[in-house]
Amino acid sequence: MDYLYERLASELAEQIGLGLFLPGDRLPGVRAFSGQHNISVATAVAVYRRLEDEGYIEARPRSGFYVRARARRHTDEPGISSPKNRPSPVSGQELALQLVKAANDTAMTQLGAAVPAPSFLPTRAIERAVANANRCQRHRNTSYEFPPGVGELRRQIARRMAENGCRVGADEIVITHGCQESLTLALRAVTSPGDVVAIESPTFYGLLQVIDSLGLEALEIPTHPQDGVSLEALQLALEQWPVKACVLVPNYSNPLGYCMSEKLKRALVALLSQHRIPLIEDDVYGDLGFTQRRPDVCKSYDKTGDVLHCASFSKTLSPGLRVGWIAAGRYQEKVEYLKFVTNLATSTLPQLAVADLLESGLYERHLRKMRREYARAVERMIAGVERHFPEGTKVTSPQGGFVIWVELPGETDSFALARNLLKQGISIAPGAIFSATGKYRNFLRLSCACDWDDRIERALATMARLLNE
Ligand SMILES: Cc1ncc(COP(=O)(O)O)c(C=O)c1O
Repeated sequence: MDYLYERLASELAEQIGLGLFLPGDRLPGVRAFSGQHNISVATAVAVYRRLEDEGYIEARPRSGFYVRARARRHTDEPGISSPKNRPSPVSGQELALQLVKAANDTAMTQLGAAVPAPSFLPTRAIERAVANANRCQRHRNTSYEFPPGVGELRRQIARRMAENGCRVGADEIVITHGCQESLTLALRAVTSPGDVVAIESPTFYGLLQVIDSLGLEALEIPTHPQDGVSLEALQLALEQWPVKACVLVPNYSNPLGYCMSEKLKRALVALLSQHRIPLIEDDVYGDLGFTQRRPDVCKSYDKTGDVLHCASFSKTLSPGLRVGWIAAGRYQEKVEYLKFVTNLATSTLPQLAVADLLESGLYERHLRKMRREYARAVERMIAGVERHFPEGTKVTSPQGGFVIWVELPGETDSFALARNLLKQGISIAPGAIFSATGKYRNFLRLSCACDWDDRIERALATMARLLNE
């Protein structure tokens, strides 16, 4: 390294790699940096420009230099998955219940369920909005808001969807008890027991539970941690099997964290529409990318009404509110009826509170902060895994959301590891529950939206110790 600015840039890059500066952190201003290192302002600028070119930091107009969400990494990512290439009933979901119960136990170090710690959520604002709705709309709270649900909320959601290029009216949206109910209603509307559903692999275990409970079979499609589901593999599967629906999480999937490109989303919608197969799009993490630009949704390319768009406010405002929605295209009436005969209506008070939070602009402001916080939390957890886990461990580089998918070296059984850890007060999500057939035994998912303290550091050290044993 010939020049001073190169040496300083390399030192700073190392500090970023070690997690001393986290994604979203502002670096000292160039004057402050030049003062700290006794160098000229021009040299300080050269250091920052060098790091910018190398992708470590970004300049924000009139604000300074910030650490980028995806700083350079030491560990590799897992490769594309290779699930069984035939449909199968879902098995092995019993541990998932233990896992979610652990999420409610405050004595547990909770790295298992994808539930954000309250510090990430706008709890005060929610309390105010609920109190306000209770005071001002008492007459409505004491009664059912039959499907499709509270009008103000549907209008706010339709407006936000319009910003993402979706031409969906408020009357084409049905409010649900969270995204899980949206997925259930969607699958009930487009399938019958025994049908085959194509899904990404690995996939979020709640979806596997819905598939199981409706007596459907899952056809797992190879999926890449950066690009998403393989369209070539999906096309072959559609030619070979009588697939009745396809369910994907194209934006910041759980557990891989990929975000499909606009080009691939368009191609996906075209492919499924050519086969006349409905696409159930789960966009529950769509608002939680690590850049401030929101990705597009498959629904915006839907010309035939065959995309059923499902989402909720569980990962952004609070899972306890249980407010989600579905824009079901040409299945709208069926979904509305199924919602009605299943549980009559979604609770009124949380719907009114969420409508208020959207209308007041608080939701958008909160998202801007939350995206940065989730990016930091993910990077911190990746750095923790890199510090503690054995050589040969691979970790995903999510582009949004707050979970990471870890591939363990060798023959490790994460099911046994999860059981062992539960006894020690630590919960993780073992890889096998992300597959219909119990694949991914040597993987695990960690939820990063936790308050970082000694407990987390100790939990990672305990995991590493058990892995080394
Ligand atoms: C991809 C995905 N979809 C749906 C859900 C369920 O969302 P909700 O809590 O709104 O029912 C989750 C929760 O973890 C999820 O990760």
